Amino acid sequence: MRRIVLAYSGGLDTSVAVRWLTEQMDAEVIAVAVDVGQEADRFAEGWDTLRDRAIAAGAVEAVVVDARQEMAEEYCFPAIRANARYEGKYPLVSALSRPVIVHHLVRLARVHGADAVAHGCTGKGNDQVRFEVGTRALAPDLEVIAPARVWGLNREQCVEYAAKWNIPIEVTKEKLYSIDENLWGKSIECGVLEDPWAEPPEDIYTMTARTATSPVEVVIGFEEGVPVSLDGDRLPGHELVTRIGRLAGATGFGRLDMVENRRVGIKSREIYESPGALALLLAHGHLEDLTLEHDLAHEKARLEPRWAELVYDGYWFSPLKQALDAFMIESQRHVTGEVRVRFELPGTGVVTGRRSPVALYDRGLATYDAGDTFRHEDAEGFVRLWGLGVATWAARQGGHP
Ligand code: ARG
Repeated sequence: MRRIVLAYSGGLDTSVAVRWLTEQMDAEVIAVAVDVGQEADRFAEGWDTLRDRAIAAGAVEAVVVDARQEMAEEYCFPAIRANARYEGKYPLVSALSRPVIVHHLVRLARVHGADAVAHGCTGKGNDQVRFEVGTRALAPDLEVIAPARVWGLNREQCVEYAAKWNIPIEVTKEKLYSIDENLWGKSIECGVLEDPWAEPPEDIYTMTARTATSPVEVVIGFEEGVPVSLDGDRLPGHELVTRIGRLAGATGFGRLDMVENRRVGIKSREIYESPGALALLLAHGHLEDLTLEHDLAHEKARLEPRWAELVYDGYWFSPLKQALDAFMIESQRHVTGEVRVRFELPGTGVVTGRRSPVALYDRGLATYDAGDTFRHEDAEGFVRLWGLGVATWAARQGGHP
């Protein structure tokens, strides 16, 4: 009998997929749930409940992988180095978790002797692209199956299918939003949000619910471009991101409302909550201002949008992304220091200070006060040469009309 490894979320679609693959493909299904820091009710119930649900749906085996630290340090931290914001805004929340999941699906496919991996994505989104292109990059021999793209069941029919096979599912009440979540943030789509003119209802926000009553100030420590401490406490990556996210999110910081361009040609309206990610990206950018040499900073800024596009478009595992990572890592050699950020109500974050033992900022050079070390006489010759080309143009060719 063939074996298929399925990316399992515990929701309706992937629970139905367990049974559907078993029946339609005559296969044994190994359900794999990857903990990337999602905190919804379903996960609060405990990962054991999730495992039981997969078995009840018909899986021969259910595996839960704790990938939180890996997600933070091997996927989110590279995104910080690259100041990654797709279309200048979206910090790639869902896009970063897919390669982590793919990595474990492929690994477990080998362990369990499976010849295919499966995912629950539909045909309209980016996540199918990320699952499939990622799997091809790591394991070109594995087949990728997307039941939801094949079965043509709407939500009601899925509920009926689940009832017919006694698949335990969560409440069958109308699902209001489509939500994807991990420690880097949360994406919220569908329902009233499909009208780009409609203001998002306040109650959709969980990571940025405004519960704080006064501003919060934090000091974030970085070493070689990645965060290592919060207010002096060194913490593992996932705890750092989560703690900063809770502090900032409580003031309402970290919300995004945007219309974005999907890889499959659709524009979609997306709400994101990403307090930890946006706080770290903000702080990191300010530390780079202090420590990156001029040309390096400008060239890096040109490459950053490309990095974000590659990751958004499913090319996490690809030669260009790999080469850009090497550049990003090299660029961060001196991005070490501390940044103070204040989160004010409701929801703004401002950097109020930055320092680094290897800062390129030199007060003696910058100051307009006593203690100036700049050689003013050098400026005269420099500026004359800087303008030599345009002066010659003006004299010989008449210059500006
Ligand atoms: N539009 C975002 C992205 O492509 C969010 C996707 C959310 N995924 C989901 N299955 N709800 O990265």
